[in-house]
Amino acid sequence: MFQIKKICCIGAGYVGGPTCSVIASMCPEITVTVVDVNESRIKAWNSDTLPIYEPGLNEVVLSCRGKNLFFSTDIDSAIKEADLVFISVNTPTKTYGMGKGRAADLKFIEACARRIVEMSDGYKIVTEKSTVPVRAAESIRRIFDANTKPSLNLQVLSNPEFLAEGTAVKDLKDPDRVLIGGDETSLRDMASQYGKGRNISVTRLRYSANHNALDSRSITAHLTFQNDELCKNRRVSERWPSVVFVSVSGFGGSCFQKDVLNLVYLCEALNLPEVASYWQQVIDMNEYQRKRFACRIIDCLFNTVTGKKIALLGFSFKKDTGDTRESSSIYISKYLMDEGAKLHIYDPKVLKEQIIQDLSQPSISGDNPERVSDLVTVTSDPYEACESAHALVICTEWDMFKDLDYEKIYHKMLKPAFIFDGRRVLDHLHPQLQNFGFQIETIGKKVTTRIPFTPSGGVPRINEPPIKKSKA
Ligand SMILES: NC(=O)c1ccc[n+]([C@@H]2O[C@H](COP(=O)([O-])OP(=O)(O)OC[C@H]3O[C@@H](n4cnc5c(N)ncnc54)[C@H](O)[C@@H]3O)[C@@H](O)[C@H]2O)c1
Repeated sequence: MFQIKKICCIGAGYVGGPTCSVIASMCPEITVTVVDVNESRIKAWNSDTLPIYEPGLNEVVLSCRGKNLFFSTDIDSAIKEADLVFISVNTPTKTYGMGKGRAADLKFIEACARRIVEMSDGYKIVTEKSTVPVRAAESIRRIFDANTKPSLNLQVLSNPEFLAEGTAVKDLKDPDRVLIGGDETSLRDMASQYGKGRNISVTRLRYSANHNALDSRSITAHLTFQNDELCKNRRVSERWPSVVFVSVSGFGGSCFQKDVLNLVYLCEALNLPEVASYWQQVIDMNEYQRKRFACRIIDCLFNTVTGKKIALLGFSFKKDTGDTRESSSIYISKYLMDEGAKLHIYDPKVLKEQIIQDLSQPSISGDNPERVSDLVTVTSDPYEACESAHALVICTEWDMFKDLDYEKIYHKMLKPAFIFDGRRVLDHLHPQLQNFGFQIETIGKKVTTRIPFTPSGGVPRINEPPIKKSKA
């Protein structure tokens, strides 16, 4: 039987890095090489400071790096030597041309397919792990078939990744599902080694590829249209811990928005405008939720935040990851910066450079990126962020925010001192926080009677339409 002795993974990101590190640690007989075009990312994987933060990942990498786990920029050699090649590259939303803002950009997938067929000889299994639209794996197959040579036998599989950032190592070691799409022969080879007795679902190539995106879409719909009652005890998927099934200030992350937008595009292409508009609402409501939260901050702070210091705690899109892609914190910061607020941002795992880079994007800082350096201070101490602040805004549900010394924080802040809990992490502390003197504002629950103030004209009412994304 075909034995997998060497694996090459193209893409050393949030999926490729952890997935291959766990495979290397669980299969010491297999040599795993993770390759990427991004030199600095590979350098970081080979250093003491890994490019991504995931609980437990450091230990896994240290246990096998240099033994049977390697990180390299030598893509061609790794492909040539491998028995199994994973494609784990990014599939972002298109930012140009047809389908701009909605369709998945598959140029990185295609580049990998062309490289693999050029570099390969003999028998190899190529497994698509990225989230791709239905039929993408068939396109890979077609590129292989059109460029094949007599000695070459490339089998294509689809094995979409369901890990969730923040629990990736746990999810990989004990997955709640493994889905493999492809033809019979290669499936048997693959499943017998990679699956190691797990409960594996097998489907056709075409259907497997789209499962991950379907999963993302159902989660986002639940997240967006939830209310407090609906959220109680809700758990759609192991990918998303139950803690977030409470009302929050919007969802973030690299996958959810792009997978939904991709579906909108597909529905429009299939002439299903009502279905497209349903899914577009998921995105619109998410944007609205973020804007509404920012407006509430402004409204409570007597309708002006101009020049006011606001401590923003948490910048990653969820706890236990340093990933900020599509994080609600970015958008909440934008709305507050637009009003001239002075933001003091703290996150336990996001680097200062990343925060500044995210806030300096043209879509966030407009045509004036200099205002970021004027309005934003990134601190390494949450207490420092709160010193003389008018408000403390929690944007990420990091556990450490539950254990801060709020009495100390209250004494440091200007009065009235406001807490805006966008993640519902302080629910259990409300009586205590009120005793200290805090005004508490949270989502889906009225805690403090508001200080009377004539409402502003600038705050959107509940029936005001959400801000529209520009259409392609
Ligand atoms: N992040 C998640 O939680 C998650 C979960 C499930 C599925 N996915 C899907 O997995 C895929 C990868 O996601 P990610 O978060 O790891 O992305 P990422 O952006 O973190 O990593 C992708 C990497 O691929 C590299 N790359 C791109 N083209 C390349 C090429 N031709 N050769 C070599 N390297 C190349 C990039 O430099 C980058 O480092 C996406 O399709 C995503 O939708 C992500």
